[in-house]
Amino acid sequence: MRRETIAIHSGFDCDPATKAVAVPIYQSVAYAFDSADHGAALFNLEEDGFRYSRISNPTNAILEERVAELEGGIAGVALASGQAALHYAFLNVADHGGNIVAAPQLYGTTHTLLNHVLRRQGIEARFAASDSAADIEALIDDETRAVFCETVGNPAGNICDIAAISEAAHRHGVPVIVDNTVATPILLRPIEHGADIVVHSLTKFMGGHGTAMGGMVVDSGRFDWAGEKRRFPQFNEPDRSYHGLVYAERFGKAAFAARMRSVYQRTTGAVMAPMSAFLLLQGIETVALRVERHVDNARRVADFLRADPRVEWVNYAGFEDSPYFELAGKYLCGRPPSLLTFGVVGGYEAAKAFYDRLALVKRLVNIGDVKSLACHPASTTHRQMTAEEAAAAGVTPEMIRLCVGIEHADDIIADLDQALAARATPMLAA
Ligand SMILES: Cc1ncc(COP(=O)(O)O)c(C=O)c1O
Repeated sequence: MRRETIAIHSGFDCDPATKAVAVPIYQSVAYAFDSADHGAALFNLEEDGFRYSRISNPTNAILEERVAELEGGIAGVALASGQAALHYAFLNVADHGGNIVAAPQLYGTTHTLLNHVLRRQGIEARFAASDSAADIEALIDDETRAVFCETVGNPAGNICDIAAISEAAHRHGVPVIVDNTVATPILLRPIEHGADIVVHSLTKFMGGHGTAMGGMVVDSGRFDWAGEKRRFPQFNEPDRSYHGLVYAERFGKAAFAARMRSVYQRTTGAVMAPMSAFLLLQGIETVALRVERHVDNARRVADFLRADPRVEWVNYAGFEDSPYFELAGKYLCGRPPSLLTFGVVGGYEAAKAFYDRLALVKRLVNIGDVKSLACHPASTTHRQMTAEEAAAAGVTPEMIRLCVGIEHADDIIADLDQALAARATPMLAA
């Protein structure tokens, strides 16, 4: 099946008991055992099935299968949010210590997770000088547990050369984890280019309506955990917390997803609610159509902004002079996502005046909604960072991040046009 069809049909035909064709919300915490032996087989992971919703839930399982198939992976684990998914993915590779080498342009909270939270837990984050494969490879050593990047960075809009980065990491026996939230598998399937683990915030374009939080980790099944025994003892030595299970032996290619579920989801429980899984499944049914409109509208808006003298610069990989134009061609078929940034002439204060004047476009910190959304990163998402960290993440004071929605492009442009008028007369903002 093609992606448009997978998004609608994968993982579910109809409910076997009632023939309902909408995915049921299995609002159940626990599942009955036929017998003590049946329960034991489920606990020993010898038999597939459900026992307790902190470990797996039938509604979530459909979402897991659907997103995994969209990404071309072999297994998915649904989690409470994108951040929970990232946290578990990092812990799963690095809970025995070591370092994670990351591209510098990351979503602000992910940067904080790596640079502060995980560092305090004994995992070192190494940020490369740029997102180039060469700069990333320069930081890899024997203690590196993963290379991490966002396929399309938020908010920088940089496009990572996944194939080159994966080749570099694999030369050293290191897996590649990517965050594919901004691109979605409709525009880009990183596993086809060498990525090993794909993480999503489903809260964004995948769900698409800003109604449910959710994250997903997709295991490509391609990384040879058994072949990297020194680097990854957690997959190759008996897990004393789980009957001495050796994940790489028992689960082979799916060891990553299996261990993440058995160790982290089971013991720390950042589970997705089945109602959220249902809402996200509803959103995913239309993701291909929505992304198409997002992409078309973004081009119209980018062209408008670029032609406007009240706008200093526009960062959009669809422009031929963008440093990412070629990579947009290679990875996104020349269709950059609808996340773009621009600078308002006049700096921090002018950007704030513009921001305050927006009427149709919502002022908030979210992306990937059907509605157009704007954020002033310097005063919100990136305000905890030092000036140097913000600059390395590509955030400047006059910068506005715009996530172009699927309204009529003329209405979005009209709102931006009237708000830009406020830039010169900040008093109107009140
Ligand atoms: C690229 C990216 N990854 C991860 C996240 C975190 O997702 P969540 O808000 O679902 O935790 C975000 C949130 O904006 C994001 O933009």
